[in-house]
Amino acid sequence: MLITILGIESSCDDTSAAVIRDGYLLSNVIAGQDVHKSYGGVVPELASRSHLANIIPVVDQAIKQACIKKEEISAISFTLGPGLLGSLLVGTSFAKGLSLSLKIPLIEVNHLHGHVLSHFIIEKNNPKPVPKFPHLCLLISGGHTQIIKVDSPLLMKVIGNTIDDAVGEAFDKAAKVLGLPYPGGPVIDKLALKGNPNAFTFAKPRISELDFSFSGLKTSFLYFLRDKMAKNPEFITREKNNLCASLQQTIVEILLEKITKAVKKTGIKEITISGGVSANMAIRKQFSELSAKNNWNVFIPPLAFSTDNAAMIAITGYYKFQQKLFAGHDVVPIARFNI
Ligand code: KG4
Ligand code: ZN
Repeated sequence: MLITILGIESSCDDTSAAVIRDGYLLSNVIAGQDVHKSYGGVVPELASRSHLANIIPVVDQAIKQACIKKEEISAISFTLGPGLLGSLLVGTSFAKGLSLSLKIPLIEVNHLHGHVLSHFIIEKNNPKPVPKFPHLCLLISGGHTQIIKVDSPLLMKVIGNTIDDAVGEAFDKAAKVLGLPYPGGPVIDKLALKGNPNAFTFAKPRISELDFSFSGLKTSFLYFLRDKMAKNPEFITREKNNLCASLQQTIVEILLEKITKAVKKTGIKEITISGGVSANMAIRKQFSELSAKNNWNVFIPPLAFSTDNAAMIAITGYYKFQQKLFAGHDVVPIARFNI
């Protein structure tokens, strides 16, 4: 029997639905929400309202693009958390309703678990090798910065974590003080291409073992700008590209140093990077270079599977389906949810 999973993701400001059949991706539809741009960040109430407007057309499109009938779906997997409660509620309630009407099982998925398994999504026209177990996953997103030891699709352990801000938050907050739009990560990435990564130096945090900290970097960036602007009010305008490139380089070095430490500690040389920040071009390039130098096997996801998407929720649902790990209809979203 074919296993066909409909995945639904609505944890933040993207409404997404995807269909995966026997591990192969049939469709992955994502509707973004431009409404937040003018507010400089995601407005939770507006996000839930947009999910409400988007969820039916997005799921409908995902089923149509997959060229399947809804009666062929074996189970519905959905993001239970972590995320914005109002946003999660829309995806969860929709998944429950559809599973009741189609009389098929419901599968809850931890969003972070989805990011980790995003490397196991197989595209029919572009099949690629998948990571072996155990491997290390560097999960870098707007809400998380973790190093995870992944022993199997359903067994994993966090071995490094941020003690304050996530790396995506550092990108977004730095962008805000530079007067750049939200989300700042992709904008810094783009401007950094035209800047000198060695123009300025920012102190890296000294955090023991495999943990991270980004709040100090954010504050020192802010104070650095404040001092420079006091002397020259044109400083940010003149140095924007160099500031982006230098800050980004500091962040890349922090990430590379920690993963190098994790490889030394665990002896595992199979590495994946996941989450929205893994879309960053400098991170992708420097990870590839470091892996070639050290003989690591590094997996970098296609851009569509780096940022939030339902394909990663569907592939996680596919693995849980095989173990019959189903959820009850009394399940409720969880805003804070560890792996
Ligand atoms: O995984 P994701 O889509 O959502 C969360 O689960 O948080 O990650 C969003 C984060 C945002 O902080 C965004 O600025 C960052 O990923 N991001 C980037 C890039 N693209 C997205 N950061 C740096 N460079 C990028 N190209
Ligand atoms: Zn995410």
